[in-house]
Amino acid sequence: MSVFVPRPFDRRDLLKRFGAVAAAALGVPAAASPALAQPVFAKYPFALGIASGDPTPDGFVIWTRLAPEPMEPGSGMPNAGVEVEWELAADDRFRNKVLVGKAFARPELGHAVHVEISGLEPGRDYWYRFRCGRERSMQGRARTAPAAGADLARARFAVCGCQDLEQGWFDAFRHLAAEQPDFVYHYGDYIYEYRTRNFYRNPHEDLLIPCVRRHEGDESTSLENYRQRYAQYKLDFNLQLAHAAAPWYVTWDDHEIVNNWVGDHEGWNKTPPEYFLLRRAAAAQAFYENMPLRRGAWPKGPEIQLYRRYAYGGLMDLHFLDTRQYRSPQPCGDGFEPVCADIDDPKATVLGDAQERWLLDGLRGSRARWNVLAQQVMMMSMDRAEDDRVLLNMDTWAGYAPATRRLLKALQERRKADVVVLSGDEHQNIVGDLRLDYRDDRSPVLATEFVGTSITSGGDGGDKRPEADQLLAQNPHLRFLNDQRGYVLCEVTPDLWTTTMRVMDRVRVPEGRISTRASFVVERGQAGAKQA
Ligand SMILES: [Fe+2]
Repeated sequence: MSVFVPRPFDRRDLLKRFGAVAAAALGVPAAASPALAQPVFAKYPFALGIASGDPTPDGFVIWTRLAPEPMEPGSGMPNAGVEVEWELAADDRFRNKVLVGKAFARPELGHAVHVEISGLEPGRDYWYRFRCGRERSMQGRARTAPAAGADLARARFAVCGCQDLEQGWFDAFRHLAAEQPDFVYHYGDYIYEYRTRNFYRNPHEDLLIPCVRRHEGDESTSLENYRQRYAQYKLDFNLQLAHAAAPWYVTWDDHEIVNNWVGDHEGWNKTPPEYFLLRRAAAAQAFYENMPLRRGAWPKGPEIQLYRRYAYGGLMDLHFLDTRQYRSPQPCGDGFEPVCADIDDPKATVLGDAQERWLLDGLRGSRARWNVLAQQVMMMSMDRAEDDRVLLNMDTWAGYAPATRRLLKALQERRKADVVVLSGDEHQNIVGDLRLDYRDDRSPVLATEFVGTSITSGGDGGDKRPEADQLLAQNPHLRFLNDQRGYVLCEVTPDLWTTTMRVMDRVRVPEGRISTRASFVVERGQAGAKQA
């Protein structure tokens, strides 16, 4: 797999291990240098861009995937490994090189490379790029996390996800890149698995809406056509800019595999679990191949370890959750349904036992100013009925009342009021307070939730859906609803959390503009959002 040069490095050792190119890049005169294989590409092999991810105080992952023919089976690469050189610099002109190395892009992994770089300085920017033969990738900026426990005056990061390419253009990503966040959290739906179609159904209005772009090929079910789907998305240059701008912490939601899957249960289809798990394995591999993930997430059949924790100095502990892989099937028929007794099943789980224990242990041991639960489906219950029934989205924590209560109880017992929950999936901006009983406004507020909208999913949208005012009235724990596309920016200081909803005026035509729709603040020690 990938190679990395430890620091401080020995230049003789470098020459021995990496030959003249690396040495020359560092200004070391090369004597008798071994010839390097120089693959020649008929087409540009870095068409899918580059990425970085999972920053720690001393490093991050850098990623690329060679694909001169991204949409073809095999991506235009031979069934053989190819050497890729990488370099890391302290400046954006690459004058001050810090590390160089080589990685091996193997066909088994779709010619992806994931280089885990360590030995860097905390809390600073680095630039990286790749080379293969005579071809060179675009460059990216990554940033290490602050030193462990460091007092940090401020951090600023972006939250995004849900980017159905058929429903809009990705200009929001270009705007996100321009914000130069310290990092990006992606809550999933990086791809949508749906086959080519001319129209999609808007579930809120039961209208057929023409697609603005079209997925290539059939529904994704195999490694080859998941790979192709990632390729189609990654060819989007706005998305590439957002990856090049900052390191991402990625997780997945449902559409990386299939709508509303959980565990070994394929959403609304009745596929036997052993068949679905074959598809899940293909999807897990394609996800790993295309994301800047560390080796710890290497897929093992249908399993992929995506829940993980990273500290951001002493300011934040970031708990990245996986609310799909270990969850019990949705109750009450799934979808937006009237409540039934099954939402009270005490055995049902959202996180699974191991992840739930890991999260509670992590919260208990945290000394950070803020604890962030970066996850996918909304944690707040939200009654969506337009009559006197109670209608919940059974594909959110609302369908799992005892599991939700267990987590909220644990937050209550901590008595710190330092938890912010970040979610996606809903395709609208939602801000609200997490209470043990959402219907009881005397029940204490235990945490604050910000649900990010979508990059494109849902199309242009508008300020509010028709039912929004009624939903706000019957859900007093909600502070805000908005149905435009965009992303969320979080600015965090030791005592104040500020979330800003950045929204697009349009996504169904290119060149949409971004603006601030609203900002909310949370004071540490006093859960609950207040409009800024
Ligand atoms: Fe989505």
